[in-house]
Amino acid sequence: SKNYKITLLSGDGIGPEIMQVAVSVLQAIAPKFNLTFAFEAALAGGSAFDATGHPLPAETLALCQSSDAVLLAAVGGEKWDTLPSHLRPEQALLGLRAGLGLFANLRPAKILPQLIDASTLKREVIEGVDILVVRELTGGIYFGLPKGIFTDENGVRRGVNTMAYTEPEVDRIGRVAFESARKRQSTLCSVDKANVLDVSQLWRERITKLGAEYPDVKLSHMYVDNAAMQLLRYPKQFDVIVTGNLFGDILSDAAAMLTGSIGMLPSASLGEPGKPGVFEPVHGSAPDIAGKDLANPLAQVLSAAMMLRYGLNESAAADYIEQAVTKVLDSGKRTGDIMASGCEQLGCKAMGEALLAALAV
Ligand code: NAD
Ligand code: IPM
Ligand code: MN
Repeated sequence: SKNYKITLLSGDGIGPEIMQVAVSVLQAIAPKFNLTFAFEAALAGGSAFDATGHPLPAETLALCQSSDAVLLAAVGGEKWDTLPSHLRPEQALLGLRAGLGLFANLRPAKILPQLIDASTLKREVIEGVDILVVRELTGGIYFGLPKGIFTDENGVRRGVNTMAYTEPEVDRIGRVAFESARKRQSTLCSVDKANVLDVSQLWRERITKLGAEYPDVKLSHMYVDNAAMQLLRYPKQFDVIVTGNLFGDILSDAAAMLTGSIGMLPSASLGEPGKPGVFEPVHGSAPDIAGKDLANPLAQVLSAAMMLRYGLNESAAADYIEQAVTKVLDSGKRTGDIMASGCEQLGCKAMGEALLAALAV
């Protein structure tokens, strides 16, 4: 049997609740696919700051680097919101992304037929939506220099971040996007702000140039403000979207809502082949519902499926988990965020038990 070393970063807020469900699902499917998992939990985020004074302790990063994959839940919370930026829980994510070289963030937003009525949007708008947002994750305004809060000679403070991309950075995320499009509907929309930003002009130039190598992929470009609007107006026009770090962050939350709830959306953050990836929900630590057994664990469970598919090359096991999610939704079981009339509302734990029951069949 194959043994995989998995680092578990439960983080803060609803993190531990949803992680528990995902781990129980992985444990349940392991024997069926002749796998064993060596899980090791480590500290990250606000809880890591409380315990060690740093949101991403060196031991955590080292453990992640030496594992086959990292399953992360969510970090952050009000308690840590006034810390200086380098100590905030969110820094754990940025440190992991930089430390593991995770430049490619895949965020699929696919509407499940069972959830159409849970959406705030009309059936005819969202039916059949199947979008993949390819978000650049280790560059752009999240990492550009200079950054910081500076005080000038008159004592006026200035907050600064820098949006920057190099040609190689654009090219490598572009390749991931073109390759992904090839495996889907061969349609790629690159989103930027090239009408205003120099960084976007370079981005568009490089993506266009790369397009010549992928003549079979239908490439278009869109400004980010229009893209936000088009995602709500007519989302079915999109197949793969490639964009920078900040635009991708924003557009993937918008795309999430097309599927009914951000509590459904998984993601994969990938670097060089053979290096461990990080798999985590698109949503955050949901402090408003933390500790109340209200969280939807499905984004976490689907992130575990993405880990199997993209991180460990165990796509049969990934399929099996995704089918169990479908089965549970077919049976009318829902957490509060995806509740619809005629359905049965469950808490996080009960949803986990329903999944285990579906896996056992
Ligand atoms: P959020 O995604 O945590 O929550 C937004 C809303 O969605 C809330 O109403 C929440 O209850 C709901 N929600 C989120 N996940 C859900 C789930 N699984 N089931 C049911 N409902 C769910 O975003 P926020 O409130 O803007 O941020 C809260 C904290 O999380 C902040 O500290 C933020 O920095 C952090 N954050 C972390 C990550 C991450 O760890 N990857 C991502 C986004 C935000
Ligand atoms: C996400 C989150 C993070 C981001 C934050 C918490 C650092 O919003 O993973 O989408 O902005 O990338
Ligand atoms: Mn986000």
